[in-house]
Amino acid sequence: MNLSTSISHLKFKSCICNASGPKCSLLEELQNLDNSVSCAVITKTSTLEKREGNPQPRYYDNLLGSINSMGLPNQGHNYYIKHSEKINKPYIISMTGFSLDELITVLTNIIISKTNFNKKIDGIEINLSCPNIIGKGQIAYDFKELDNYLKEICFIYSNLLERFNEKPILGIKLPPYFEIHHFETAGEIISKYPIDFITCINSIGNALLVDIKNESTVIKPKGGIGGLGGSYVKPTGLSNVRNFYLQFKKRNRDIKIIGCGGIETGKDAFEYILCGADLLQIGTQFYKEDVGCFNRILKELTEVMKYKKYNNIDEFKGKLKTI
Ligand code: SIN
Repeated sequence: MNLSTSISHLKFKSCICNASGPKCSLLEELQNLDNSVSCAVITKTSTLEKREGNPQPRYYDNLLGSINSMGLPNQGHNYYIKHSEKINKPYIISMTGFSLDELITVLTNIIISKTNFNKKIDGIEINLSCPNIIGKGQIAYDFKELDNYLKEICFIYSNLLERFNEKPILGIKLPPYFEIHHFETAGEIISKYPIDFITCINSIGNALLVDIKNESTVIKPKGGIGGLGGSYVKPTGLSNVRNFYLQFKKRNRDIKIIGCGGIETGKDAFEYILCGADLLQIGTQFYKEDVGCFNRILKELTEVMKYKKYNNIDEFKGKLKTI
């Protein structure tokens, strides 16, 4: 059974890894992922400077999923550049900025660490969708901004890496969209640029869970409002993967799709691939189960594929039938 996949020139031994989110902030956590069955190591979204994030409690989960308002606690982007040498697997730095200028500074530093100092950075995932920054919206919901950000990002990326053979793969992490014309607009904008992948979806922003016993919110920041993950969001994640798959197919663009949102079992993984995902990220379930989830989900996916007589993921990727 072949569960490998690739994005551009970067090859992955399997199709399941961690999501930028839980347990990927500190070197010990990144090394824990490196020693696991996860096919890549993706860092917590890094910013220009180290951040403590939002006040605690800021994460809560139940049987159906999770809510968080972490507020991007991370060690600052230089930490993730510095420790890249200690990771053996495909290493993808997630990053963002609180303005376009700041984002470009972080991106430039990461790229220069590769071009000038040969740091082992295999990919860059730019987070344009964090719902938890107090006083800031999600960039990718503003289509003019999305277009502008992508223009600047791709300009810097192409110029700095012009003569570099094995460029780090470049992708963006998107929020969930809910309107068909939003897929059309986002699909059209993204298709104009030379990016390698999109990750969909980030959590469903501005959700609220209630603690009925205490008649209170379950997390503290933003009056209890936060990003929803886990099973609650799987149908939305599947729909986003499917809609972007069809958008890119229609435009003849080979932009790979990383599916994320509520993947708990091998069956969930199969559904995402059937909808068009090339690679899968696990967030809430990784938080709950730790690194054992990667092996278990891969084994379960193998069982589903065996039962259906598929030998590799390309045989069913994107082949969802409509009735
Ligand atoms: C957070 O740190 O608030 C979560 C990250 C995200 O949703 O992008």
